[in-house]
Amino acid sequence: MSGSSIAAVCAKASSFHNKFKMRFTAFFALAQPARAAIRVWLGNMSEQGMQEMSEFLTKSRARNIFYGGSLFFVVVFVGLTAHSHRYVVKTSTAGMPLTEEVALGKHVWERHSCINCHTLHGEGAYFAPEVGNVMTRWGVADDPEGAFEVLKGWMEAQPSGVEGRRQMPRFEITDEEMRALAEFLRWADQTDTQGWPPNDAG
Ligand code: HEC
Repeated sequence: MSGSSIAAVCAKASSFHNKFKMRFTAFFALAQPARAAIRVWLGNMSEQGMQEMSEFLTKSRARNIFYGGSLFFVVVFVGLTAHSHRYVVKTSTAGMPLTEEVALGKHVWERHSCINCHTLHGEGAYFAPEVGNVMTRWGVADDPEGAFEVLKGWMEAQPSGVEGRRQMPRFEITDEEMRALAEFLRWADQTDTQGWPPNDAG
């Protein structure tokens, strides 16, 4: 490293240090009035008031409030976590079993980055239709064979080449993977999304 570039680095570091120092000073300058106000308030408290406060909030009471409060919120947190877990497993995804096929379908969905254009339950890109309810839209939500057939037909007909219409690329997907993808989309369709999307058109 040449002498002049070392000097440049040192100058930069020192300017950063100065900025930091200025912010710090500003912070303490602002904190000063607040501290003064607290001092005035405490000073105005009568001797008797101070006495009463220290009798009420003894050291052991303060400790109990601290431990009791912490314990209370830990219990609330654990309870809510257990409830969320139960809710996801027993309610929101209970529409259809989470089979190996569904899991494979999710991998296919991820490998081809379908989410780069589509949304699934509202998450993703807004270039192409929502697919969280496409099986309902196609009327095959409860029909695995039909779902596979329609999806395969759709995927193989892309790109449509229709002028003025957004295009979906063609993906090379085996029948086994296409079945899995159809199952994944049916599974997604049957999760309880509390009414999302608000209409069948997605
Ligand atoms: C480059 C963007 C793009 C990617 C990536 C993409 N799609 Fe599409 N997809 C589209 C567009 C655009 C449409 C709407 C085409 C039309 O209506 O003519 C569409 C339509 C669909 C439809 C029909 C939706 C309906 O409501 O009719 C399905 C199902 C679908 N895509 C599944 C997939 C799957 C599965 C993947 C991943 C393997 C995927 N798409 C990847 C752009 C994309």
